[in-house]
Formats: sequence, structure tokens, C-alpha cells
Amino acid sequence: MKKLTKLSLVILTLISGFYSCKPNKNMQDTSLDQALEQKVDSVLSLMNLQEKIGQTVQYAAGWDLTGPASTTSAKSKVDKMKKGLVGSVLNVTSVKEVREAQKLVMENSRLKIPMIFAYDVIHGLKTMFPIPLGESASWDLELIEKSASIAAKESAASGLNWTFAPMVDVSRDARWGRIMEGGGEDPYLNSVIGVARIHGFQGDDLADKNTIAACAKHFAGYGFGEAGREYNTVTVGEFELHNMILPPFKAAAKAGVATFMNSFNDIDGIPATGHKVLQRDVLKGDWNWKGVVVSDWGSIGEMKAHGFAKDTKHAAEIALNAGSDMDMESYAYEAHLEELLEEKKISLVYLDDAVRRILRLKFQLGLFDDPYKYCDEEKERNDIYTKEHLAIAREAAKKSIVLVKNENAILPVSKNIKSIAVIGPFADNKDAPLGNWRAKATYNSAVSLLEGVKAKVGENTKVYYEKGVELTVPTVKPGENQFLYPLKINTEDSSGILKAVEAALKVEIVFLAIGEDAYQSGEGRSQTKIGFAGLQNELLEAVYKVNKNIVLVLSNGRPMDISRASELLPGILVTWQLGSESGNGIADVLFGDYNPSGKLPVSFPRNVGQEPLYYNQKNTGRPSNDIHVTYSGYTDSEKTPLYPFGFGLSYTNFSYDNLKVDTETMSSEEKITLSVDVKNTGTVAGEEVVQLYIRDLVASIVRPVKELKGFQKLLIAAGETKTVSFIIDKEVLQFYTAKRKWEVETGEFMLFVGGNSATKMKQKITVE
Ligand code: NOJ
Repeated sequence: MKKLTKLSLVILTLISGFYSCKPNKNMQDTSLDQALEQKVDSVLSLMNLQEKIGQTVQYAAGWDLTGPASTTSAKSKVDKMKKGLVGSVLNVTSVKEVREAQKLVMENSRLKIPMIFAYDVIHGLKTMFPIPLGESASWDLELIEKSASIAAKESAASGLNWTFAPMVDVSRDARWGRIMEGGGEDPYLNSVIGVARIHGFQGDDLADKNTIAACAKHFAGYGFGEAGREYNTVTVGEFELHNMILPPFKAAAKAGVATFMNSFNDIDGIPATGHKVLQRDVLKGDWNWKGVVVSDWGSIGEMKAHGFAKDTKHAAEIALNAGSDMDMESYAYEAHLEELLEEKKISLVYLDDAVRRILRLKFQLGLFDDPYKYCDEEKERNDIYTKEHLAIAREAAKKSIVLVKNENAILPVSKNIKSIAVIGPFADNKDAPLGNWRAKATYNSAVSLLEGVKAKVGENTKVYYEKGVELTVPTVKPGENQFLYPLKINTEDSSGILKAVEAALKVEIVFLAIGEDAYQSGEGRSQTKIGFAGLQNELLEAVYKVNKNIVLVLSNGRPMDISRASELLPGILVTWQLGSESGNGIADVLFGDYNPSGKLPVSFPRNVGQEPLYYNQKNTGRPSNDIHVTYSGYTDSEKTPLYPFGFGLSYTNFSYDNLKVDTETMSSEEKITLSVDVKNTGTVAGEEVVQLYIRDLVASIVRPVKELKGFQKLLIAAGETKTVSFIIDKEVLQFYTAKRKWEVETGEFMLFVGGNSATKMKQKITVE
């Protein structure tokens, strides 16, 4: 064993005895754990300037860490790690590699400050859950927390400490590729889902071997890029920013999320990465949040391209002053912070604050206690892709499915049905359900729809399968990273359609699995078209000609234009990309083993021209719904969605009755209890998501026509009535007013209750 240097002995003495210290559950807590702060300060006081700057550096590792570094850039990164000049790395994803990388620091550097290992674990590590937008359709917070906790467990077992999730960007534009990664178009839904995911990832104790640090991203406005164009400019006013975009971030900060990531976009001319008001004044000031802000990949350097920084040095100056604590892959901080300090362009106070935040997180994760704490080969062998995890993935899959059309009760299908044809490019697709942010998922490992269907029916049911059309023309080898390769859509080869028609002719029912490939959405994959790409429309029309009994099983990473399908087909299931257990989850719903309960977290448009489309819009001065008149709509299309936010059917029906409030007036400090009776009027038990919306009728800032403010998901037996109550208080009624503060304004409010955002059931109240 190497002899311990005097300095490392000092550090060990300083930190010993503090190991059992728990992280602050609430990062907003002003009375930060004093023992923890002392430890942080002690380490900080031993650090020289280069070492401090080193903590703010995050590198991506794209080479084999267990062999010699092959490229010059890899060699230089290894060298920096050995000198203790790197705070964190991303994309190192196994115990073996994490150990190797950590060793570089622990066995060579002066202070031996462990690195944090980060990775984009967006909807599972190896056990894949539904894409976040899909899982949000479950409106099941317990389930969402559970799936995040499994993702955390698998990640921690792989040596990881930190995920760049959840994305809590409110996103209203179906064209935006990354709409798949968030909780949809509503700030309240994004808030509660984001918090559930944070709790799932972080648990109660970051030092626990099964938890990892979460990251609320992208702060802020990324989901509002103009025209849904990736990385595009965002032009929102101050009030829209505070009322629509920031609430999920505020909720995340309050819930104690360990880290934030800023964003690529500019907001009204200020790049988010260099946005001092957002990061220093709002997040670290008003919200008093103590975690780490990491830049997005290269976003500090990109301020040059924005036309906001004249060179990388200037970018580093702007970013640090604005409150970006860690530089992901811009190499700006390592190159320029020292010089900027000498020139007094940045202050040591800001640098120390950034380093303190990073060290605090390392202590909270228990890395000072044991830098190899998460390097446990046995856990890596046993805790990943387990049967238990797959069972939860199936649960998540079935609960995320949204039934949007079920004419003549075409669903559920009897397991004794004589014949079924499963048709389409997603019918036997074992890869697309894994989504595009698939972390360590094995290529082609999902249960396909065909497999799920076959596992459900008996020997007497004949199941035919035809792909019908290829959606894409392969450009990379199966399993290869598709990230840099836009998909090539097949628009020529329709040779399989005839066989699909023949199969459809023979059967009682067709499950038509068409939609989008996983790599049509995600980062860098915005689209101007959101309908069925390639020859899928031709397939749909051809099959429909010979068999009208069709259930569309939609594969999608965004709200799609399914108007034509909705006009023709009796049954439609929105199935997103559902993860490892996709086919089983869908079959559970198709055959009635699970009564669908999902509700759309995004509006489904009639056509792409309606985008951005969202229910919580403003009324305008000319609000009529008519077309062909000069009102706030279109002359060639309804302005309403095809399927509204919050909508989803069940195999039973629910009626709402007896809406009442205990009093119709209140002061802003009082509360009103609103209740409604929800009856299951059908013959099977079912879950209903009872939704509460409000409208502030006259306000200092125009308020949306409806805003979701609460929901409850309940299981109601056939024939049973349940009374659901909501408390209407300050929390529900306040907004960021013309006075630039969160408060309740007096006046009239309309409360709405129902099973989706188009509900008309309402009750007026007055705040005096
Ligand atoms: C860029 C993405 O915008 C961000 O969400 C992600 O976490 C980073 N790349 C790291 O992969």
C-alpha cells in the first residue's frame, strides 16, 4: 500500500466521523447540515486554485477506460484526472470502468477528491420503462416513483451516481423531438411527475447504495423553442415564464433535487446557460436552492454561436457569473477561469460557491466515505434486469396506454377469438419500444406486440403476422447507435401490402401496429410532419378496404396526427414506446386483463398546422369556436384538438354528479372544499383520473381558459360511487401576478371537474 501523504491524512481526519451524515432532503433548507458544511469547508480550504477549477470540469468518456487511452483527447483527459483536475465524468457505465476511472484520481492526485459519475438514465438503465411522456399518461405518481427508483437501483449497481433526469420542460409542440422526454403540456402535471421521479431516483438518502442524484432539466424554456425546432430560440414574456415554464423547476428545487441542468436555448435573447437572473437570482436566490447547476453539453461554448460571447474565455466568464457551476464538455472553465480570476472578471466567491456545491454533493453521495462505494460487481450482476424489475415495467407499460377510441366496444377482445392478424412495422418490432434514450438496454430486447398477443391466446386462435411495409431503410447495422443518423424512411417498397391485405381478409380482427420509430423523436429529431411516415397510410387504407374491424396500436414518441385513422377505425390505443415489457402490457389491455386508465398528457391535434396546441391557452378577445368567420381559429380546420389533454377511455363508463362546494366565498387565506360524486356506470371495475381545473375569470394578467390544479386516480367498482374532494386554497388559486409576485387575486374563479380538460362541469366561487 502506498504511504499516505500528510495531506491525505489531514483530509481523512477531517472527514472521519462525519460519514453517517445524511444529505439534506430539502436542498432549500437554509439551515444546511452544519457538520456537512464544515466538512465541505475543510476540504475547500485545502484546495489550490487549479484543484478548485478542476472540480467544475465534467468530461465525457467515450473510450475504453480499462485499456490505454487511444486518442490525444482521451490521453489529456486521463492526465487531468490523474492530477485531480476533473470533478465528474459522464458516460462511463460499468463498475469496472467506473473503478478504473476513479482509480486515476484516487491513486494519483494530491487531494484524492472522488469524481461523480453521470449518465442519461431517462426511463430505465437496462430494464426499460415507458418513455417519460408515455409514463406520464399513467397519472400514477406512485408507479412513476417506483420506476425511477428501479432505474436508480440499476444505475447505482453499475457504479453510477447521477442521472440527467427528470426533464421537466413543459412542452406544447408535437413537432419538438424531445417532447417524448417530459411530462407533456401542463406545468402542474410536470411538477408532480417531476417530483415523483426525483423521489424515486434520490430516495430519502443519497448515500444509500440504491439511490442516485437526480437533475431537473433544462433550466429553462427548452420546450418552448419556436416552431418546435430543436435548440431554437424562445420568446416568452416574464409572466409566461413564471406561470408556465418555471413551476416544475420550483417544485423540483423544493423537493430537494440534487442538481439542475441549464439549457441550450436563449430566452428573449439571453442564452439560458448565461442567464444570471434565472440561475443566480431565481434558483439560487429566491428559491434558496443549494445544489449543483451543470451546463448542458457544450452549452457554455455555444454562447459564441449564439452571438453572446466573443470567445470561449468570454463564455466562461458569462457562465460562471450567471451561476453555471459545472462545465459539461465545453473545456471553457479549465482553460480560462484562472485567467479570469486574475483579471478580476469573475470572483473567487462565485468559484468557491460552485466548488462548495459540488463537494457537498460528493459528501452526500458518500463518495468521500468510500470512492468505490457504488463499485460492487455482485450488485451489478444481481440487481439489474431482474424479474421483479420487469414485472414493474409491465405494470408501467399497461398503465401508460391510452384508449382514445372504442366504437361498438371493439375492445377488449375475447381470448377465444378465432383469428387475429397483427399487421404493421411495429407488430413484431422488438426494438422500437425501447425508445431512443435507452441507456444500457439490449438491442431488440423488448417484448413485441406479436409476442404479447401470442402469449395471451390459446391454441384455437389463429394469429397471423404481416409487416406490410418497412418503415425505414436501414442505414446503420442493427444495434448500432442511431444518434447521428437520421432515419431513412421507405417510400418506395410497398411489396408487403398485398400479403397484409390477404391476412386481414382471413381474420375477425386486425391489430394495426403503425406509427413512429423510436428514432423519429428525441434530441435532435424535430419533425415538420407528425403523421404516418412512409407507406403506412397506404397500408392502413388497403387493410381497411378488406376488414373494418381494426384496432390501431399506435407507436409514438409525440402526439401524432391520427385524424384519418380516427375517422375510419373503430379502436385506437396510444401505446407510445412502452419499454421492455411493451407487448405484454399492450396485450393485457387488448384482451381485458387490464382495464385501460391512461389519460393524455398532451393534446392530440387534428393536423400539424394546429401546433403548438395546448388546452391551457388564453381565450383571446374573439374566442368563438366557429370556423369560416374572423374569430381566433382557422378557416380550414377546427381549432379544438382531436383528443384533448387529460382524455382517455376505459372499458367502463364514469358519470359525474353532485358537484358542490362547502361555501362559495372565501378569503385568500381560507379554503373551500369541493366535492363530486363519480359513479362507475358500467359492468367492470375501472380506474378514473378525476381532474380539477380552475379559471381565474378576471385578473391582472390574462389567465388561461383552464389550468389543471389537482387530480386523483381512483379504482371504482362496477356500480359503485365514490365521492372525491379537492381543497381549493391559496396553493391552487395563486399565480405570478402583475405585481411580480405569487399571490391570489380577489374576484371570481370558475372551478371545473371531470375526466378530461374539455369538461364543462363547473362551479363558481368568489375570493373576497
Ligand atoms: C444534451 C442533452 O440536452 C441533455 O439533456 C443531456 O443530459 C446531455 N446532452 C448529456 O448527454
